[in-house]
Amino acid sequence: GDVAVVVPAAGAGVRLGPGAPKALRLLDGEPLLVHAVRRAAAAPSVRVIVVAAPAAEVESVRVLLAPIAPVTVVAGGAERQDSVAAALDVVPDDVGIVLVHDAARCLAPADLFESVAAAVRDGADAVIPALPVVDTIKQVATDGTVLGTVDRSVLRAVQTPQGFRLPVLRAAHAAAADLHTDDAGAVEKLGRPVVCVPGSDFALKITRPLDLALATHLLTLA
Ligand code: CTP
Ligand code: MG
Repeated sequence: GDVAVVVPAAGAGVRLGPGAPKALRLLDGEPLLVHAVRRAAAAPSVRVIVVAAPAAEVESVRVLLAPIAPVTVVAGGAERQDSVAAALDVVPDDVGIVLVHDAARCLAPADLFESVAAAVRDGADAVIPALPVVDTIKQVATDGTVLGTVDRSVLRAVQTPQGFRLPVLRAAHAAAADLHTDDAGAVEKLGRPVVCVPGSDFALKITRPLDLALATHLLTLA
């Protein structure tokens, strides 16, 4: 394998409601992070996995993941970007490709890791899985007045794993002056091309309680 996967898993999960850090909440009896790492480890190209865990949970996450796959666990930071940077710091230089994957997208299939990595291997600097937007999208003023309807055909909803040539992502993180919501955004700011591959409905991000209910059902289909 020529791929390292960095897994930001240090978030609190505020939108999921009170409880443990989101990556440690249970889906079908297992933490979201276990589901995510199991699928990443099942991708044949993956050689290294680095997890950024909540600082207070680094040791417990090591114990949790040891039976699943060989994983390095580091303490995450205050923002997702800090967590990715902390994990990126310990990725070995000899992997050509790094994938950044949210623990919260815990049902992203091994196939998706492979298709993103393959597109990087084929020459892209940065690759993101994306899906068409299904809702009509309006631009709205702060008072609720509709300003217009956006042309949905040019929009995409973006997922993880996002794939990069390792030096490209390192450069993007080093140059990042302010917060980005995804890693490809930092690469865009460098002026480097980012390309899309087809996303997966299974790569939904568990954000609100309804998403956990949906994921529970998806587990019965996969
Ligand atoms: N994440 C992280 N470090 C942070 C914040 C987020 O590693 N300081 C991770 C989360 O664990 C998650 C991914 O980034 O796997 C996407 O973030 P999000 O879905 O927003 O998760 P949370 O920040 O945990 O949720 P919320 O925003 O509702 O608190
Ligand atoms: Mg968050």
